[in-house]
Amino acid sequence: MNTTSFARDKGAAPLAGKVAVITGGGRGIGRAIAHAYADAGAAVVVAARSSEELDAVVRSIEAHGGKALACRVDVTDYANVEAMYAQAVEHFGGVDIVLANAGLGTPGGPIETANLDAWKRTFEVNLYGALHTARAAIAPLRKRGGGKLIMTGSGSRHRPMPGLSAYATSKLALWMLTQTLAIEVQDANISVNELIQGPVRTEMTGFGKVAFPPGEWMKEPEDVVPLAMFLATQPLVGPTAQSFSLMRRAG
Ligand SMILES: NC(=O)c1ccc[n+]([C@@H]2O[C@H](COP(=O)([O-])OP(=O)(O)OC[C@H]3O[C@@H](n4cnc5c(N)ncnc54)[C@H](OP(=O)(O)O)[C@@H]3O)[C@@H](O)[C@H]2O)c1
Repeated sequence: MNTTSFARDKGAAPLAGKVAVITGGGRGIGRAIAHAYADAGAAVVVAARSSEELDAVVRSIEAHGGKALACRVDVTDYANVEAMYAQAVEHFGGVDIVLANAGLGTPGGPIETANLDAWKRTFEVNLYGALHTARAAIAPLRKRGGGKLIMTGSGSRHRPMPGLSAYATSKLALWMLTQTLAIEVQDANISVNELIQGPVRTEMTGFGKVAFPPGEWMKEPEDVVPLAMFLATQPLVGPTAQSFSLMRRAG
């Protein structure tokens, strides 16, 4: 196998022939990346819990001449996630790129008084949901001879953020999951990298009402697309176990 040929020399459709699965693809950052991957030639499976949002994304992609499939899934349920990949294989023949993007922002508050159920729920979605999404992807990615696992991280994992402990801690654990899995599947040409987008105006951030570090770049979901495209188009022997960030602060 030529391990340097992933998505190279495909002109205006660098993802032609590829199949991308995007959890949290119904709105926000996932929706923007779903459109971009479809425009780049990939068949895209958009997955989340809200059918209406997923159906709207699929209609929009198809209206632009792309290929897409809506898949209703709760990433906290491993059987659901396995079924998502089964649908991707059934409809589009395999899986090449996975964006583990489904995530939950939890209401803040100091640890002393934090709602412990909300803490657990944050971990169920942000860590276990991503674990399910990555783990169940390995078999279909192996069948294609390799591929990309892109894990949606957060700059909040770099430094303590009082009042956001559950979210930041879940994303810090996700970073260790990313690095460990990357080493475990490296020989299968599966890359596992973290995408950190920094502040983006989405439903999760209350359309900009969350207080972000001063001087940060407040992005629209579309601003994350170039980095997501970069990660999806690296060669099979390209970067793995790395973190790629759009933030403006060190650390
Ligand atoms: N926006 C930011 O500033 C920012 C910064 C750093 C990192 N991030 C990360 O970026 C990712 C996307 O966030 P966003 O800002 O685009 O938020 P968003 O607009 O609220 O989108 C979140 C997506 O995740 C899906 N989701 C949530 N729980 C799910 C579950 N249990 N099963 C399946 N899908 C689920 C949601 O769909 P349903 O509710 O329909 O399931 C939705 O499609 C998250 O991982 C977030 O932590 C965001």
